[in-house]
Amino acid sequence: MFVSDCLNINANGHLTIGNVDTMELAKQYGTPVYVIDEQAVRNNCKAFVSSMKENYGENGLVLYASKAFCCKEMCRICNEEGMGLDVVSGGELYTAISAGFPTEKICFHGNNKTVQELTMAVENGVGRIVVDNIEELGRLDSICKEKNLKANILLRIKPGVEAHTHEFIRTGQIDSKFGFAIETGEALDAVKKAIATENINITGLHCHIGSQIFDIDPFVFAAKVMLDFMALVKKETGTELKELNLGGGFGIKYLSTENPPAFFDYMNTVAGKVKEYAKELGLNSPFIFIEPGRSIVGAAGITLYTVGSVKEIPNIRTYVAIDGGMFDNPRYILYQSKYEIMCANKANEPKDMCVTVAGKCCESGDLIGEHTMIQQVEPGDILAVLSTGAYNFSMASNYNRNGRPPVVMVNNGESRIIVKGDSYEDLVRNDI
Ligand code: LLP
Repeated sequence: MFVSDCLNINANGHLTIGNVDTMELAKQYGTPVYVIDEQAVRNNCKAFVSSMKENYGENGLVLYASKAFCCKEMCRICNEEGMGLDVVSGGELYTAISAGFPTEKICFHGNNKTVQELTMAVENGVGRIVVDNIEELGRLDSICKEKNLKANILLRIKPGVEAHTHEFIRTGQIDSKFGFAIETGEALDAVKKAIATENINITGLHCHIGSQIFDIDPFVFAAKVMLDFMALVKKETGTELKELNLGGGFGIKYLSTENPPAFFDYMNTVAGKVKEYAKELGLNSPFIFIEPGRSIVGAAGITLYTVGSVKEIPNIRTYVAIDGGMFDNPRYILYQSKYEIMCANKANEPKDMCVTVAGKCCESGDLIGEHTMIQQVEPGDILAVLSTGAYNFSMASNYNRNGRPPVVMVNNGESRIIVKGDSYEDLVRNDI
C-alpha cells in the first residue's frame, strides 16, 4: 500500500515510520524534519550485497553512491553492511574519512576534480580514482610523482547509452561532460596513455547511464558495450583490464503505482550477461562494481512538515502552505518530480482533497507537488512527503536563509538525530 515497508498506520490513525509515530517525531524534533528508517536502509544494503554475492560470488563490490545522502552515520552504516563508497567531492571524501570509512573501498568520481581534491585522495589512499579526462590524468600523475605514491584508476567511458525511467536510447552520445567517448577513438587513446603513465595503475573502466531507471535492458546493453571495448583494448594494447564499474541508477518507488524491478533480478541478469559476454570475447570475468545511491536511501526516508495555511482560489486551485519547500526539497522545482503526499495525522482518512503543496520561499515555483490528492487538511496538520531519503537533504540549500532541517534516524520504535538542523547562528557562522 505504501511506497516502503517501513511505513504504517497505527491505532491512532497516524503514519508511523520504523514503528515510531510521526506525530511524536514532529513534536520532539519540530518540523520540517527528514526522517530515515535505519532498518529499511540496512535491508536495501543487504539486498544489494547479497545479490552481488549470490550472482557474482566474491568478484564484485557494491559501492553506495553517497551523493544521494551523505553524512557520517550513513558512511558508518554502509561500512558495517560491507559496502564500499562512491564519493564525488572533497566534501564527501572528508565525511567518509571523518566517519572512519576504509579509504581503499572508496571510489572517487567527478568530471573536474581539483588538484586539492586529487591530492587529498592520493594522500588518503583512496581505492580507485575515476579519471574523467586527459588533463586529469596528467594532473594525477604529477601529484603521484611528487608524493611518490601510485594511484589506482578507472577511466570514465561514455557507453553511448542514455536511460530514463522507462526508455533508453543508443545515442552514440558523445555530447556529455562526463568521460571519454568510444566512437571518436578518444577512449582508446586515453587507455593507452593511462597504461603508459608511470605513477598510475589503470585497473579498469567505469560507466553510468542515468538515474531512476526501471528497465534492466539498458544496463545489459551498457555492459555489452563496455566489454566489447575491453576486448578492443586487449587486442590493441595487449592489456586485459581487470575491473568494470557499471554505475548506479536503479529506480525506486516514488508513487505506490510504480513498480521497479527487484535488485536481485537486476543483479541476476546483469551478472549473468557480464560472465556470458566476457567468455564470448575471450576475457576473464572482470571484477565488477555497482553504485546504487537512490535505491539505498530513497524510499527509506520521508519529510514531515506543518501546514501553515490553506488558501482556496475558487475554480483554480487550493494551496496548502508548509514550513519547508525548495530549500529542503528542490526536486520539484528542478525536475517536476512527483511525490506521494499525505496528512500524517489523518492517515486513515480518504484522500479526497486536490491540492498544490507550496513551500515558504519567496518564489512562485517553490512547490512540492501539484494536483496532488491528500486528506482534508487544515492549519496545524502534519504533512508527510514520502520517498525523500535520496537527493533531498543532499541538495538542500539555505535559500532565503532558511535552515536546513535536521535528519532523524528511526529504528524499531527508537529515534535519534544523525544530522542537526541549522540554527540561526549556523546561518551567519561564515559571515564576516
Ligand atoms: N554513480 C555515478 C557515477 C553517478 O553519477 C550517480 C548519480 C550514481 C552512481 C547514483 O545514481 P542513483 O543510483 O542514485 O540513481 N539529483 C538527481 C539525481 C542525480 C544523479 C547523479 N548521478 C535527482 O534528484 O534525481
